[in-house]
Amino acid sequence: MAYAAGVDVGSTQTKAIIIDEQRDIVSRALADTGANVTAAAEKVFQKALVAADIGEEEVEYVIGTGYGRYKVTFGNKQVTEISCHGRGAAHMFPKTGTVIDMGGQDSKAIRVNQNGEIVDFCMNDKCAAGTGRFLGAAAVALDIPLSELGTTALRSEKAVRISTTCTVFAESEVLSWLGKGKKVEDILWGVHQSIAARSIGLLRRVGIEEEVTFTGGVAKNSGMIKALEEGLHTRLNVNEDSHFMGALGAALFALDTIIASRKPAVKEVN
Ligand SMILES: Nc1ncnc2c1ncn2[C@@H]1O[C@H](COP(=O)(O)OP(=O)(O)OP(=O)(O)O)[C@@H](O)[C@H]1O
Ligand SMILES: [Mg+2]
Repeated sequence: MAYAAGVDVGSTQTKAIIIDEQRDIVSRALADTGANVTAAAEKVFQKALVAADIGEEEVEYVIGTGYGRYKVTFGNKQVTEISCHGRGAAHMFPKTGTVIDMGGQDSKAIRVNQNGEIVDFCMNDKCAAGTGRFLGAAAVALDIPLSELGTTALRSEKAVRISTTCTVFAESEVLSWLGKGKKVEDILWGVHQSIAARSIGLLRRVGIEEEVTFTGGVAKNSGMIKALEEGLHTRLNVNEDSHFMGALGAALFALDTIIASRKPAVKEVN
């Protein structure tokens, strides 16, 4: 049995996925990227090997993706995260037409065809507005753990309208609303709505198909799922592996390479 792996070195978190020849996930691992990007890639790969209970030599091909993909020194090849999120999302949810990836630094809207190949994409790379970083700034200002942001926001009965689109000013706006006596959950729900609205703007630029798949770490945030679903008037494809979709796509590309290398050379017939 051969295995393939994908390592997605994101700006904030590093993810690894190992799959078998049936394309089933055998293990996953996650760690903060931190300052030493190469070490983070190595660490998650080793964690995934331990979780799968297999040796490094059993993994025939490794693909690195994400912003730190060239730091996956043990990898065989690099593929962009746009391609990997598209491939992973289409594999997990085969009717995916549009993907929204919300990570730690930026958001990306991707349109894919039935094979998971990229038709168009768009990202807000110029500014961190509409991303996990904006949520992170609000979490710090309100002193709430990231993992509780969504559930807290969902307790809101009336959103506070957040006017800033800039992460740098998010903290001061949040604090000023607190000072005016607004409830934490109402401020947070406003933050989620504001980020969702900007992400939907990105999605419109690539085209919103019938099935939209939500990937990246922010897909763990139940408040963001609801804010996007309300804004889009549709249910999103999201599951517990949404955070790993880029790593999964990379692992699937790695498995393609393994399978292609096994095909016997086609003999020319005269
Ligand atoms: N349990 C959780 N609950 C809520 N949000 C979470 C949780 N875990 C991670 N996140 C969010 O996901 C973000 C990280 O997502 P992800 O790993 O997709 O980013 P990344 O790939 O490192 O970044 P990028 O793609 O922008 O380079 C965190 O910054 C945080 O906002
Ligand atoms: Mg990412």
